[in-house]
Amino acid sequence: MSMKIAVMKERRANERRVAATPETVKKFAGLGVEVVVEAGAGATAHFSDKDFQDAGAAIAADAAAALAGADVILKVRRPIMPGEDGMDELTLMRAGQTLIAMLNPLIRRSDCDAYAAAGIDAYAMELMPRISRAQSMDVLSSQANLAGYKSVLDATEEFDRALPMMMTAAGTIAPAKVFVMGAGVAGLQAIATARRLGAVVSATDVRPVAKEQVESLGATFVMVADEESAQAETEAGYAREMSDEYKKKQAALIAETIARQDIVICTALIPGRAAPVLVDEAMVASMKPGSVIVDLAVENGGNCALSEMGRVVEVNGVKIIGHANFPARLAVDASNLYARNLFNFLSPHINGENGALSFDFEDETVSGVCLTRDGALIHPMLSAKE
Ligand code: NAI
Repeated sequence: MSMKIAVMKERRANERRVAATPETVKKFAGLGVEVVVEAGAGATAHFSDKDFQDAGAAIAADAAAALAGADVILKVRRPIMPGEDGMDELTLMRAGQTLIAMLNPLIRRSDCDAYAAAGIDAYAMELMPRISRAQSMDVLSSQANLAGYKSVLDATEEFDRALPMMMTAAGTIAPAKVFVMGAGVAGLQAIATARRLGAVVSATDVRPVAKEQVESLGATFVMVADEESAQAETEAGYAREMSDEYKKKQAALIAETIARQDIVICTALIPGRAAPVLVDEAMVASMKPGSVIVDLAVENGGNCALSEMGRVVEVNGVKIIGHANFPARLAVDASNLYARNLFNFLSPHINGENGALSFDFEDETVSGVCLTRDGALIHPMLSAKE
């Protein structure tokens, strides 16, 4: 039997993305899938109800109507849970429904119990294994890439100088110095963007493999390389939390480097944990007035001790940008890429003859992201935490 997908409007603060676009609706429809989009779901990303209708979706007047009879619910952010501010979204969902979103399960562990208790089969896209076959489904990469780009533009907005070197009749303007902390997906895009704008760029990471990637983008790599950093990358490709001894050595290097920088872009994350604090108060105090720090890690606690989520704060003339939800600041592109990630994840499991969904649990792109099934918590990372 053909399945029905519901696309909900996002209700969390600062969320402007949407989990499907007219392009992906059309592709789902082409596989015989019925898609219902909640009215206004795409408005903040400039997709109108009519665009969705023209692509083959039905429009439902509200969330309850969109979810009624849906087999699969596509969302960007984790549902608003009972007791949280805003409309309780979990209670609208029914046992047997499949929820696919960025559910932040390693931090929001109790949500996972709630999905199981409600009989909702929940899939967290952030847990997608980093294998080459799954790159087109990798939501962390698609969103981090845009966030990295936008972070540099956000920095230029608060920076009272130009980035490139300019030789003018009135004299030469020196290029700005940009330092990128964390050279993963967001950091590499920040490096590329800052270089395109003419800045002199350097970067740091704890994973030694980042060196070549940083240098190939024309930036200088600085890091504390020791026996511990040689093991800093996990099998999944992420960073480990470093020891106190390493952190001390790293802090000394950063302290020395940062005082000379004009713009610092912080992107360092450790999955399932608070972001490492890399820039302390004294380091901020060592920077010249007019310098700018952008903390992309602010939602995970921040890489800078002084950043505040959703705010631009100024300390001794240094501006520290902690915008909430950087990818949503490019809502159109972020939605386009995220929606394609979801389509690429689901489509191999849809029967193109009749539009029915049947997940192959032998496939690690499915077992790697499935949190709950038939009322039970099944993800190994969740049971390991108990
Ligand atoms: P992330 O968002 O978890 O972290 C960002 C960066 O911060 C990482 O490079 C990490 O090493 C760094 N970091 C963490 N702690 C740090 C500390 N204390 N000091 C300095 N830097 C620190 O990582 P992201 O961007 O999601 O990906 C990491 C890597 O995974 C990528 O560079 C890439 O090599 C790999 N990857 C592989 C994919 C695939 O094969 N399908 C897809 C995407 C990424």
